Amino acid sequence: MDRKYVTEMVPADAAGIARAAEVLREGGLVAVPTETVYGLAARADKEDAVARIYRAKGRPSFNPLIVHVRDRQQAAYFGDFAGTAGVVAELVWPGPLTMVVPRVGDRGLAEAVAAGLPTVALRAPSHPVMRALLEQIDFPLAAPSANRSGFISPTSAEHVRASLDGRIDLILDGGPCEDGLESTILHIDGGGVWHELRPGPINLAALHDILFDPHNPVEIRRGTGERGIEAPGQLASHYSPGKPVRLNATQAEAEEFMIGFGQVPGDVTLSASGDVNEAASRLYGCLHLSSASDRPHVAVAPVPEEGVGRAINDRLRRAATPPDNDQSSSGS
Ligand code: TXA
Ligand code: MG
Repeated sequence: MDRKYVTEMVPADAAGIARAAEVLREGGLVAVPTETVYGLAARADKEDAVARIYRAKGRPSFNPLIVHVRDRQQAAYFGDFAGTAGVVAELVWPGPLTMVVPRVGDRGLAEAVAAGLPTVALRAPSHPVMRALLEQIDFPLAAPSANRSGFISPTSAEHVRASLDGRIDLILDGGPCEDGLESTILHIDGGGVWHELRPGPINLAALHDILFDPHNPVEIRRGTGERGIEAPGQLASHYSPGKPVRLNATQAEAEEFMIGFGQVPGDVTLSASGDVNEAASRLYGCLHLSSASDRPHVAVAPVPEEGVGRAINDRLRRAATPPDNDQSSSGS
């Protein structure tokens, strides 16, 4: 049986952050706001603390976790940032980019963090609360999104509470998350080829143009890579509101909760002005509302593939895939 926790929720002020640091030191679980989504944090250097994350989420143990650090210097203790990876990290961090790099052995990370892979995923977040917390502790934080495995990611403290109340120790309430979508995940392979393992707020093509000759663009491979570097959490059925979702809808049919965008109205809208960045930050909130609604179906207006729209459509396609179609079902 799962242990029953009493879940405290406190404002993310100085006292709250100090309390969070204390709970984490003792191996507890704390939901922390980041610029992307709320993360469910535990110290990454203790097997039992990391095991608690997997239990609280109901997450399969073969799906590895992102290790959150202060900066590139701390990241380079755990992973190999030689070459372009280091330049990219220096340019984007702190921010919504996760880098999958070769793992440096024997640096005290719990084995369960990397789920047996020879690589490790590292990210230095920009959210002031997460940064303040990382300053107060001397260990890195493993933190997946703070939701039950397979369900909608949380962009508010209330979303976390709805999903994980009684399963974690503490929720730091730092208000809504600005970006609203999980970090872009990048792996640069030994041949220098860029692999986008998950689309997100950072546009890799634009980043590549900054670093290299924009007149000589290279292909960024999407979601494919040599064995072992795929993001195992990127499974078809994920982010589900728990009812059927119809995409590219231009008007609601009977019994549908409609999520609008731009000219297409709805019960709620991702962005009335058709702004994809606003839509990204509102996406999970709208999916949570569709889930709570008493209507048995959900319809979503078309969202253009431009900019972060690509990442929005990636999440929407997963939200619309029935769990039964997902053989490997292991949401994160
Ligand atoms: O924005 C974010 O990245 C949020 C916040 C909390 O930082 N975190 C997050 O974590 O989205 P999670 O666990 O929901 O997603 C982590 C993804 C999974 O798809 C996982 O498979 C992938 O990162 N991943 C972790 N380690 C990996 C590795 N060594 N190689 C490839 N993919 C990896
Ligand atoms: Mg997740």
